[in-house]
Amino acid sequence: MDDRNDIGAETANDQAAAPYGSGTVATRTGLDVGTSKVVTARGDSKQASTNAQLNAFVTVPYSALTQNTLQGNGIAHYREGDDLVVYGTSAEQFAHMFNAECRRPMAKGILNSREPRATHVLEAILGSLVPQARTAGEVIAFSVPAAAAETGSDITYHEETLKRYLKGRGYSPLAVNEGLAVVLAELAGESFTGIGISCGGGMCNVALSYLSIPSLTFSLAQGGDFIDSAVGAVVHEPATRVKAIKEDNFDLTRSSDDKIAKAIHIYYDKLIESLVEELHRAVTRSQRLPRTDKPLPIVLAGGTSMPKGFRDRFEQLMRRRPLPFETVFRSLEANSPGPIQWGYLTRRIGKMDVS
Ligand SMILES: Nc1ncnc2c1ncn2[C@@H]1O[C@H](COP(=O)(O)OP(=O)(O)OP(=O)(O)O)[C@@H](O)[C@H]1O
Ligand SMILES: [Mg+2]
Repeated sequence: MDDRNDIGAETANDQAAAPYGSGTVATRTGLDVGTSKVVTARGDSKQASTNAQLNAFVTVPYSALTQNTLQGNGIAHYREGDDLVVYGTSAEQFAHMFNAECRRPMAKGILNSREPRATHVLEAILGSLVPQARTAGEVIAFSVPAAAAETGSDITYHEETLKRYLKGRGYSPLAVNEGLAVVLAELAGESFTGIGISCGGGMCNVALSYLSIPSLTFSLAQGGDFIDSAVGAVVHEPATRVKAIKEDNFDLTRSSDDKIAKAIHIYYDKLIESLVEELHRAVTRSQRLPRTDKPLPIVLAGGTSMPKGFRDRFEQLMRRRPLPFETVFRSLEANSPGPIQWGYLTRRIGKMDVS
């Protein structure tokens, strides 16, 4: 298989959606390469098991003793020159212990060109999650963001780097636009017609799909990381502390006198406003809107959409900027974004005839 089957990805052909056939049920792997987390789901059309690693690392000076200790404790690492690079989920525990900040191979949805170790670390993380393909040419579907004004051609580099790596592990890689992945995972009952929105760590990705063919995709290069750093800057707290507070059952429906909570509210609002604004602009400019009498379903997914009240705020702001067609919000099928969502995607891919 060559890359022409990519779905809604930047390097795909215009009408490149893979057809849904009655293809045999086979093992498939879905790989969500997120700015904060890398998640795999492996299985067939009936069930999938998932695995995840934080997309992060820290470096410590090399010594034989440290390396032995890391090895003895099963902490994922490799040696590079005078450094030991601790990567994946272990990196966060390590950073907490040493009061250091984790570094990230990716920023705003793609490989971070300002991080010299980016590619090597990401490949190490992928290596711990993606086994060698069992049969040559086994399909792996991986997420890619849509281009944002700031990302430009770096996205091609990001996508190609991942493809080459996955081909090297024996797979046929299939790039899937992240917004479209939400539609494929959640809107089977609507014949994959609707708007999928993934609000992640580095960005928000949006796809408007008609019968699984994306007619509009875009991304906003802001997500949870933006909230963490913007809040951190105004309240003079480290972004990691803000992130922990934000992830601990934060409730957007409750106002608070606490200055960190107040600032989180303000920047959540700013993020949702920008997203609604961008959606309105993209839809009203588009020449390729589906004609349908039924309201178009919208699904909100991704870690940043998790706080209580996120969807209500989104709906409220959309009422101020209505789209030229009716919409209806749908809950996530699994009521939990992330790994489970990719489990669904894997099942869908398991049914796709991509050969
Ligand atoms: N319960 C929660 N409440 C609020 N925010 C959360 C919660 N859980 C995770 N997040 C935030 O969601 C973001 C990560 O979401 P997700 O895993 O969907 O992103 P990603 O796929 O790694 O990134 P991207 O898609 O932008 O490349 C982080 O900013 C994290 O702080
Ligand atoms: Mg994501």
